[in-house]
Amino acid sequence: MGSFCPKLCMLCSASFPPQTIQAMARKSCNNSEFNNTMKYEVSQRTKVNRNAHMENLRDHAYLFPEICAKETEHAKKYPHEKLIRLGIGDTTEPIPQVIGSAMAKYAQDLSTTEGYSGYGPEQGNQRLREAIAETIYKDMGIRGSEVFVSDGAQSDIARLQMLFGSNVTVAVQDPSFPAYVDTSVIMGQGGKFLEESGKHEKIVYMKCNSGNNNDFFPADLAAMPRTDIIFFCSPNNPTGHAASFPQLQQLVDFARHNGSIIVYDSAYAAYISDIQTVPTSIFQIPGAKQVAIEVSSFSKLAGFTGVRLGWTVVPEELLYSNGLPLIKDFNRIVTTCFNGASAIAQAGGLACLSSTGYQSLRSIIKHYMENAEILADTLTSLKLNVHGGKNAPYLWVHFPNSKSWDIFDHILSKAHILTVPGIGFGLGGEEYVRFSAFASREHVLEACARLRNCF
Ligand SMILES: Cc1ncc(COP(=O)(O)O)c(C=O)c1O
Repeated sequence: MGSFCPKLCMLCSASFPPQTIQAMARKSCNNSEFNNTMKYEVSQRTKVNRNAHMENLRDHAYLFPEICAKETEHAKKYPHEKLIRLGIGDTTEPIPQVIGSAMAKYAQDLSTTEGYSGYGPEQGNQRLREAIAETIYKDMGIRGSEVFVSDGAQSDIARLQMLFGSNVTVAVQDPSFPAYVDTSVIMGQGGKFLEESGKHEKIVYMKCNSGNNNDFFPADLAAMPRTDIIFFCSPNNPTGHAASFPQLQQLVDFARHNGSIIVYDSAYAAYISDIQTVPTSIFQIPGAKQVAIEVSSFSKLAGFTGVRLGWTVVPEELLYSNGLPLIKDFNRIVTTCFNGASAIAQAGGLACLSSTGYQSLRSIIKHYMENAEILADTLTSLKLNVHGGKNAPYLWVHFPNSKSWDIFDHILSKAHILTVPGIGFGLGGEEYVRFSAFASREHVLEACARLRNCF
C-alpha cells in the first residue's frame, strides 16, 4: 500500500495516481477474454460532448494526487521511516461487537427462508427512521416520517442538489468541506473557477476565520449577499469549530429574513461535549424547521465509513416560494434515484441507537477526543496557534504568513506525519494545516513525540 492514499475522506475524490490506473489496466489485460475484445482503436472517440459544468470543476488533479505523489516520494526517500497518517479523516477503531454482531446476524438470516427479504422502503426501515427521530432529535419535534435514511451524507448532498436544480444560488463557508462547492459546480450553480481569485464566479464564500472573536463563524453575516441555499457544517470540517446557540440563531434568522434554505451538515454532532452551549442539531434553534434541512451520518458516529449509512431530515414545514412542501419532492427524488440503504447497514444503525450500542460508541468517540486533546496539548506547548479539537475531531493549526503546503512538507519531511494543507478546503484555509484525531493512541503519542522535534 504505502505509496498511495486509500481515501482522503471525499477529498481524494477517487483520484488514483497514474501508476495505479496503469496497474489496474495491466490486471484487466491479464484476462484473456478481455484481451480478445481489445482489438478496437484505442483512440476512437464517441460523439458525446462532455458535461460543460465538469469543465468548471477545479482541477483536483492538483491537490490530492499531489498529496499522494508527495507520500510516494516520501516513501522512496525515507524507506525505513514509518509514516503516521493524521490527514485522512477516516475512522480507525473497530466497530463495537454488539453492532457488528447485529449486522452479521442480519446477513446470516438472509440465507434462511424466514429471514430473507429483498428491497426495503426507499426512505429507510421505519423502525430506524423512528429511532433516529427519537434518539438523535429527542425533544426537537422531528417525526420519523421526516427522516430519510441513506447510504451516507455525501450521497445525500448530491441528491439535495438534484432537488434544487441548476438555477439556485449557493453560499458556503470558506474554508469548507469540498462536496458543497463541487456538487454545486457539477449542477451548474457554481460557474467558472477564477484562478485570480481562487473562487467560482457564482458561489458566495462566507469567510470564516478566527479574527475579531469570530471563532470561525461567518464574519459579517448580515452583509452577505442573499443566496437560495446556504451550506453550513457544524462541528466544522476542517476548522473543528462548533457554532454556539446564539451563532446558529443568527444563521437561522438570516435565512428566515432572506427566505433561504440552510443545508446543515451535522456529521460530527456526536463529538460535541459542550452540549449546554453548542447545539447538536439545527432543529434545536427556534424557527429552523421553516428554513433548514439537516444531513448527517453514521460514518463518524459509529465508524461506518465503509459500511455506509446516513440520513437527511426534511421538515414538513419547509416550503417553496409557491407554498408546496420540499419533503414531497425530496421523497420523489429518493424513490426515483435510490433504492434504499443496505438492509444490513440499517440493522447496524438500529444496533447503534440501542442503549448498549450507543454507550459503546461513546467510548470510541471519547478515545478520538482524547487523541485530539493530546495532540492539542502538544501543539500548544510548541507555541503553535491551535483551534478546534474540543467539540470536533479535527485540529486546525495556524501558521501565520506561511503557505499551508510548506507546512505540510515540513511536517512530512521532519516528522513523517501526513496532514492536510488548509488550502485544500478553499482560500480561507491558507496558512492552516488540519490534523485529524482519527488514529490509534499509539500513533498519536508517537506523532506528538516527533512533533516536539519538528517545531
Ligand atoms: C462534513 C462532512 N460531511 C459529510 C461527510 C461524508 O459523510 P458520509 O461518509 O456519510 O458520506 C464527511 C466525511 O468526512 C464530512 O467531513
